[in-house]
Amino acid sequence: MLALTGATGFFGSHFLAAYLTAHPRARIIVLGRDAPRRTRDRLHTALRATGRPLDSTHLQRVTPLRINLADECLGLDSRAYTALADRITALCHFAGHIGLDAPLDVLRTVNVTGTAHLLHLARAAGPRLSFLHISTAYVAGTRRCGTAPEAIIRPPEGFLSPYEESKYEAECLVHQYAARTGRLAVIARPSLLVTDRPQQPGAPQSPLRRLGAGAANVQRISTRAGERGLCNPECPVTARIPGAPHATLNLLQVEHAAQAAVHLSRCTSRRRGSAKVVHLVHPHQVAIPALLDALTTAHLPGLRLTLTAQVTDPTPLEKLLQHMSQGAHLYTHLNRRYDRTQYLRHLRQLPDPPDLTPAYLLRAFAPPGSTAPPRPLAHPRSERNGSTHADHPTPLRQAIEERDRPHRRATRPGPAPPPATSERRCP
Ligand SMILES: NC(=O)c1ccc[n+]([C@@H]2O[C@H](COP(=O)([O-])OP(=O)(O)OC[C@H]3O[C@@H](n4cnc5c(N)ncnc54)[C@H](OP(=O)(O)O)[C@@H]3O)[C@@H](O)[C@H]2O)c1
Repeated sequence: MLALTGATGFFGSHFLAAYLTAHPRARIIVLGRDAPRRTRDRLHTALRATGRPLDSTHLQRVTPLRINLADECLGLDSRAYTALADRITALCHFAGHIGLDAPLDVLRTVNVTGTAHLLHLARAAGPRLSFLHISTAYVAGTRRCGTAPEAIIRPPEGFLSPYEESKYEAECLVHQYAARTGRLAVIARPSLLVTDRPQQPGAPQSPLRRLGAGAANVQRISTRAGERGLCNPECPVTARIPGAPHATLNLLQVEHAAQAAVHLSRCTSRRRGSAKVVHLVHPHQVAIPALLDALTTAHLPGLRLTLTAQVTDPTPLEKLLQHMSQGAHLYTHLNRRYDRTQYLRHLRQLPDPPDLTPAYLLRAFAPPGSTAPPRPLAHPRSERNGSTHADHPTPLRQAIEERDRPHRRATRPGPAPPPATSERRCP
């Protein structure tokens, strides 16, 4: 029996959907912080949004249990706690506070103390329990280039955000647990997770959609202030944001990450006594300019963003953009890769995820209930000539072209690209 935290969240719900599909007889205890009925309703919405063909019989195999991660015994009385520990053979810990700009003590309460309490449950369970902990590829900290290893090493120059630090501290706890108990534990480190599925009301959102909501706020605020340029591509407004023009980011389709996590949740290994670290990352990086292009096309079509090492004397708009970025500006200087040795060793049965094309990025940012609007484009260039999109500063013409033709790679069925629209809505 699997127990799962974080199932109502973006990644956890995709994992739950993939797990229910992959294991048609499996029963799952979902450890959530709401009352069971509310958790079930939320799971229903979240699972539907994943796009997997699930019906009510799938949800019947899920038993919600209310827990309090802040309590050492998860808020359960000793009978319920022991019964839970006795039943489970696998424990997957997806719950986390993902606020990049949240204070460290707030993040620690969920990410570190919560993990400690889950490990307490793992110790109380049988010795054959497998423990899967969801961390992040961004524990690599301030390391700007090079290759981040699949190992627990404190970045010599520290972390970019308190979020990363809290996730690193949680990894250390998982490592101690494996070393002290001699049991198996797997730490999965996804990069930034994305989906191009349309956003459903009430369903958990990807970080890109949250960023998109921030951009939509910038547009609303500036429109109220009388500024109309942000939604008018005919007379664009330019703003600087901190970052390097050649910076790249690793993004991975959440559907692929969920599939990989399902495999890892059943990982068996003879090498015990230390936590196994596996990067869940895309083999190709995405250029930051391509990401910014998709963001502005979807939400601020009259805005041109330029990356600059430091934004001196920021304008009110530049201040607003930084405020609305929710900490994302910390990631616009990086150009590093992630070791995939363990990934390839344990997940070789999975095909590589499809490329993250400009059209995909547009869909990933698309606001609720809309199709991504086109805007005049420059520099049409060949899209696939290597391992990155870093040399495609404005690749959206390709996005439009690609949007209008069927997907070339079909390793996995995906939603149809949005239809073309010539109409742009301005508030
Ligand atoms: N999204 C990404 O791009 C990404 C990338 C790398 C790693 N990760 C990691 O993946 C995990 C899931 O992230 P996500 O994107 O799915 O985040 P999310 O959508 O914000 O979901 C977070 C989940 O954690 C639960 N949770 C948060 N605080 C809790 C608490 N105090 N007690 C009990 N449950 C709590 C939430 O429950 P409620 O629904 O009740 O709030 C929700 O189920 C996290 O560990 C994160 O660090 C995510």
